[in-house]
Amino acid sequence: MTWKQVFTSSVGKKLVMGLTGISLILFLIVHASLNACIWANDGGEMFNHAAHFMGGNVVPRILEIGLFGGIILHIFQGYLLTLENRSKRTVGYAVNYADGSKWYSRSMGLLGTLILLFLIIHLAHFWFPNRSSQGFLLGPEINLYEKMKLEFSQLWVVIVYILGCISLGYHLAHGFQSAFKTMGVHNKKYNLMLSSIGYGFSVFISIAFILMPLSFYFGWVS
Ligand code: HEM
Repeated sequence: MTWKQVFTSSVGKKLVMGLTGISLILFLIVHASLNACIWANDGGEMFNHAAHFMGGNVVPRILEIGLFGGIILHIFQGYLLTLENRSKRTVGYAVNYADGSKWYSRSMGLLGTLILLFLIIHLAHFWFPNRSSQGFLLGPEINLYEKMKLEFSQLWVVIVYILGCISLGYHLAHGFQSAFKTMGVHNKKYNLMLSSIGYGFSVFISIAFILMPLSFYFGWVS
């Protein structure tokens, strides 16, 4: 497969979606683990320490550029695939699904769009103020724990985060196994294991993220 085909053929696009998807899953694991430091309930000391390591060192900041590149590529190829699938379909979705596909497998474009809207709000809450205070280099950072306390004291913000994380959960419920299948993990022996791990991961990660704004809103952490 040539580089041009990687970005233009259906198989190439699915490959890009799978590779960027798996990288984003790895990012979510690191992000949730780091954020889980809020539950140390030490006034944010452990969390701010970990966040400072990520925001104040060259290597994580270079990885951050790769992360944003991966997100943009995933969104771009995702929309192209959605349009491609739509133009191939002769009848709409008002039919019975003999293949038994779930609503969220058929709504990846919509769920991805909801996650994108959530991400714009999310980056405007934390990432942008923090990086702009650093002059987008390695300057002094804001107190992210106090910023979370402030943002998550507002009910509308908590609701937007819960809806964003539910969309993420459903997006992953299809995306997780789909990404690994595209990478070749696809035979009868492994399918059940892969879908179980995929569902388990989707539920676990979305509940973990949902509990974060709730913890601040209800004062479970101080
Ligand atoms: C719901 C609980 C969440 C909390 C409390 C939270 C908190 C944060 C904070 C404090 C930052 C700023 C880090 C920094 O400037 O160094 C950040 C960055 C970021 N978050 Fe979240 N996040 C949550 C969920 C999510 C979810 C579900 C996603 C993905 C769909 C996500 C994607 C990102 C991205 C892409 C960044 C910028 C990358 C970076 O860390 O440098 N976050 N988050």
